[in-house]
Amino acid sequence: MASLCQACSSSSATPLLLAKRVFSLASSPFIFMREHKIPRHCNSFRAFNAVSASSSASTSVCVDFKDLRSNELVELEYAELNLNHKISEEVGHVRIRQHVNPLSSSFSKPAPVPVWDEVYKDPSLPLMVDIGSGSGRFLLWQANKNVESRNYLGLEIRQKLVKRANFWVNELGLSNVHFIFANAMVSFEHLISSYPGPLEIVSILCPDPHFKKRHQKRRVVQKPLVNSILQNLKPGGKIFVQSDVLDVAQDMRDQLDEESNVLQHMDTVDTEDGWLTENPMGIRTEREIHAEFEGARIYRRLYQKRQLLPET
Ligand SMILES: C[S@@+](CC[C@H](N)C(=O)[O-])C[C@H]1O[C@@H](n2cnc3c(N)ncnc32)[C@H](O)[C@@H]1O
Repeated sequence: MASLCQACSSSSATPLLLAKRVFSLASSPFIFMREHKIPRHCNSFRAFNAVSASSSASTSVCVDFKDLRSNELVELEYAELNLNHKISEEVGHVRIRQHVNPLSSSFSKPAPVPVWDEVYKDPSLPLMVDIGSGSGRFLLWQANKNVESRNYLGLEIRQKLVKRANFWVNELGLSNVHFIFANAMVSFEHLISSYPGPLEIVSILCPDPHFKKRHQKRRVVQKPLVNSILQNLKPGGKIFVQSDVLDVAQDMRDQLDEESNVLQHMDTVDTEDGWLTENPMGIRTEREIHAEFEGARIYRRLYQKRQLLPET
């Protein structure tokens, strides 16, 4: 185990080679978990916990993060998925445009409801929906961890990301995760209300901020979506939201706090100024990794739907 640390710390390799070396170390039987956040302009060697899959013993792998870019940190954090990087040949280059406008007519068409039996092995399992799933890595990681107990659905407005994410689903041989090209503002209700099992978790993680005042109606969290989430969520089900933009986080918080007769904020976990200090999902999203790399704070809230709702 100590040699893993030495192999990295004594390296004079380029950042990419270093990252590749860590990826190869990360292949089975090791699972890499983030132990520390990466501060801005980090100059020191950082430790990742490497937990042996075959034993509970833990050890450390050291990487010189001053040489790594945040994209490489994303690859490191998701190394255990071992995703196929030749995908660009299949779906073309995935160019990440800044924002799309979900109110434009090109995104107004409802997404077709899938045949749930065809996308999931067991469509009666509880469902987690990630709204604005981006690359899909976050949901793939969750699905890989909970193969038998939960289904996962990513709703994403950028088609190429969806195509690539579903390619990865097949590559990983997972039958409990699926991505749909959909504008969640238009399609959440009819997609989710048609799902045969209970809706257990909804996540909205670092949604596009649409900074300008006149563009804020493009933000994905709006009253009709909140109503639909509450309507479909099972009692005891959870909503997890986060953003690296305080104004966006406050906007989501205000809208969800307004539903306090139906939702309670889960402040039993560690909080600071009312925001969760840690991501409770076991892994950071890509945007979260990039933002923390830049030194930003992430504002998180976790809500639970009350078991007993007040009579209306
Ligand atoms: C900033 S990215 C965050 C991605 C991911 N959740 C993360 O934290 O890394 C926001 C994502 O939401 C998607 N998105 C924006 N508006 C959407 C909408 N109305 N419906 C579905 N996806 C949307 C964007 O295309 C983008 O991939």
